[in-house]
This record gives sequence, C-alpha cells and structure tokens, in this order.
Amino acid sequence: MKIMVVGGGGREHAIIRSLAKNKTVETIYALPGNGGMKDDAVLVPIGATEIDKIVAFAVENGIDYAVVAPDDPLVLGAVDALSEKGIPCFGPNKAAAIIEGSKVFSKNLMKKYGIPTATYEVFDDPAKALQYLKTAEIPIVVKADGLALGKGVIIATTREEAMDAVRSIMEDKVFGKSGNQIVVEEFLTGPEVSVLAFTDGKTMVPMVSSMDHKRAHDNDEGLNTGGMGTVAPNPYYTEAVAKECMETIFLPTMAAMNAEGRTFKGCLYFGLMLTPKGPKVIEYNCRFGDPETQVVLPLLESDLLTVMQAVTEERLDEVEVKFAKGSACCVVMASEGYPQKYEKGFPITMSEAARPHVFVAGAAIKEGQVVTNGGRVLGVTAMAKTLTDAIALAYSRVDEVHFDNAFYRHDIGKRALAAYTEEK
Ligand code: AMP
Ligand code: GLY
Repeated sequence: MKIMVVGGGGREHAIIRSLAKNKTVETIYALPGNGGMKDDAVLVPIGATEIDKIVAFAVENGIDYAVVAPDDPLVLGAVDALSEKGIPCFGPNKAAAIIEGSKVFSKNLMKKYGIPTATYEVFDDPAKALQYLKTAEIPIVVKADGLALGKGVIIATTREEAMDAVRSIMEDKVFGKSGNQIVVEEFLTGPEVSVLAFTDGKTMVPMVSSMDHKRAHDNDEGLNTGGMGTVAPNPYYTEAVAKECMETIFLPTMAAMNAEGRTFKGCLYFGLMLTPKGPKVIEYNCRFGDPETQVVLPLLESDLLTVMQAVTEERLDEVEVKFAKGSACCVVMASEGYPQKYEKGFPITMSEAARPHVFVAGAAIKEGQVVTNGGRVLGVTAMAKTLTDAIALAYSRVDEVHFDNAFYRHDIGKRALAAYTEEK
C-alpha cells in the first residue's frame, strides 16, 4: 500500500513510524514532512494547506490511504477534497472539523447538549466585551474564536490584562480573522488531562490518557507553547473518571455532532480539566495532539492502519484497540528562545540507540546534514513498566541527542507523579 501523511511535525513522525509497522505498507509519503524523517518517509515538498496540490499528488501517485494530521488542512476541507477523488482518508470532514475551527461553535454545542464546560459569553463587538469585563469575576479566560497556532487563549489574572487581550484580539487583530469573535469564559482549576479518541460516528474508543506540559519552563513557568512534553497514562485519570467522561462528555459529543449533521470521523481530542465539580471540557481538537501522540501511539499494541481504516469505513466496532500496560514519556527539545525568537540551522546528532525513540518536529536537510529548523525541534521518548522509569529513560536518551542552543524542561512528568502521593 502507498500511504500519504499530511503534516510535518513530531506528531506526524510518530504516526508514520506506527503506520510503517503494518506489513502491507510499501511507501509512506510525508507532505511536507521534515528533514528529520528522511529515513522513515519520502519527503514531498507540498505544504500541508496546499489542498489542490495534495489532491493532485494523491491521484497521480495512486495513494491508497491518506492521513490528514494537522488542524488547518482539516478545517480547510482536505478530507472532503481527497474523498471527492475517491482517496480513502483518516480525519474529519470540514463540517466536523469546525469543532476545533470555531470555539464559538464548540461552546454553543456543549451548551445546547449539556456537555460540561466552563460558563461563557460570546462577543463580536469589542466595546461590549470590555463593558462585560468591568464587572466580571477575575481570573477570567479570553479566547479567540478561530485557529491561532495554539496562542489564542489568554488567562487573565487582572482586569487590565483581560481588557488588553480583547483589544489585541478584536481591535489589533493579532490573530487575523480568528479574532472576529471571542469567547470569554470562567476560569477553571484542577489537573488537566488529554484524551484522544478514535470515532467513526457510531463507536467511540478513547485511547490511553495523557498529560501535556504547555508552559515553556520548569514549574509551569514561562510562556505557553505547543507543548514541551507529555506522559501517558495520566494518573489523575482514574477508571472512575474515565467512566464519567465517557457518559457525560465523549458519547454526548459524538451524539451531538451526529444530531447537528456533522458526524465526526477521525481522532477527536478532548482537552479536559478535572475540576472540583467534575470533569469539564477545556477544548476540543479535531486531530491527534502534539506531543500527546508521541506517547500515546508507542503504547498502542493494535495495528494503527487497521484501526484508521476501520474508522474510515465506519466499522470501528469490529476492530480491537489495545494499549500496553506501561507508561510513556516524551521530552521536547526546543531551540533556545522558543516560543518567541530563536535561531535555526544547527546540526542535530544523536546516538543510534536513541534514534528510534526520537520523533523529529522541526528539522531540515542542509548540505546532507539534518539541522534544526523550528522552535520545537524534536521529542525524545521512552516506554517502561512504570512512569518513574519511563521518565528516567527518556531523560537518559535526551543526553544522547545534541544540537546547539537546545533547551528542554527538566520536570516532565513531575506533576503526574505527584498524583500518586496526593492519593495516599
Ligand atoms: P487551549 O489553547 O484551549 O488548549 O488552552 C490553553 C491552556 O489554557 C489550556 O491547556 C489550559 O491550561 C488553559 N485554559 C484554557 N481554558 C481555561 C479555563 N477556562 N480555565 C482555566 N484554564 C484554562
Ligand atoms: N498538545 C496540545 C495540542 O495538540 O493542541
């Protein structure tokens, strides 16, 4: 089989490595992929949002199955365009991808169908938003409606900060059209859990839970990033919590999307907060999370391609989706300065022992050398029987990977480990 994966980050590298385990797979093309994947996929210089070119490539090269991984092509309708040409794909269509593409849509969906989430107001007029903030309870959360590269959420701890956020999103348009509307919502507290779930609109199969680390620096300090590391499973997500989430969030979301005529097929990502009043949805994503995928897929014992094809063909109930019992950890190594300004072009080297456990996110090939080419450069992963061992092994592998100006968090998994002591 010839497979095509749209996207170019660490998540896509993890997906490619998992797909390659299927013996029927002959070639995997990555559009555009990145230089760090050159041994695992054929790199095709077509951008992830160049939908016409993606479709043309798939048709010309006889692609048997396509996986569209990132949010933007999904929201733009890449799956619709490929399906029209008869290319089977994994990922939601445009109508369903709106669950991530518009926060106003997802908040209204949750309200309409009674799915637990933070209380909120929607504004399309900055003056009204500013008026509301004069008396609103602080801290408060301001969110741009549309996609904003993971930066459209501002947790305001003062009234002034909240008002500044409204001005920069709605008046200065720092996120462009994504800021035409905003959601202003209640500030929630509690441990965060990411749950990725396979769904074909009829069956919902949650994968092993995970925990992301969004802030750039140790002890959750510094700016928000795309994610600096992950662990799985997330110890806060007990069996009882999982059962509650299935009943109050996962199945109701699937049913809600069906009722809206927007059946979701693909990987639905639930960003949850375990509040004192029970689990609530912080956000939905219409795709695999990054870097959650880098810890979830290595724990998947079932064949990924088989599961994905079952989703496409709406027979997810017929396949087994099994996860290993152990734990996994991913430590992201980034370029100094990320998520703001950083330098690129430094050679990346690693031991052969570490290589199979490294998922590369931002690299290019320059004069035959793999060099850094992004903020998040790569994720170093490990699996072990216990979370403690997985963390230790991941960090020992970090020592075997080198590039100039590298920085990473030293406390990935610390919060998760604390869950065990809190229980006692
Ligand atoms: P998002 O980009 O929607 O994933 O939001 C980024 C981060 O902001 C989340 O991972 C949470 O840590 C935080 N966040 C978002 N919404 C809320 C909320 N209502 N209360 C508290 N924290 C939030
Ligand atoms: N790690 C969070 C995300 O993929 O959006």
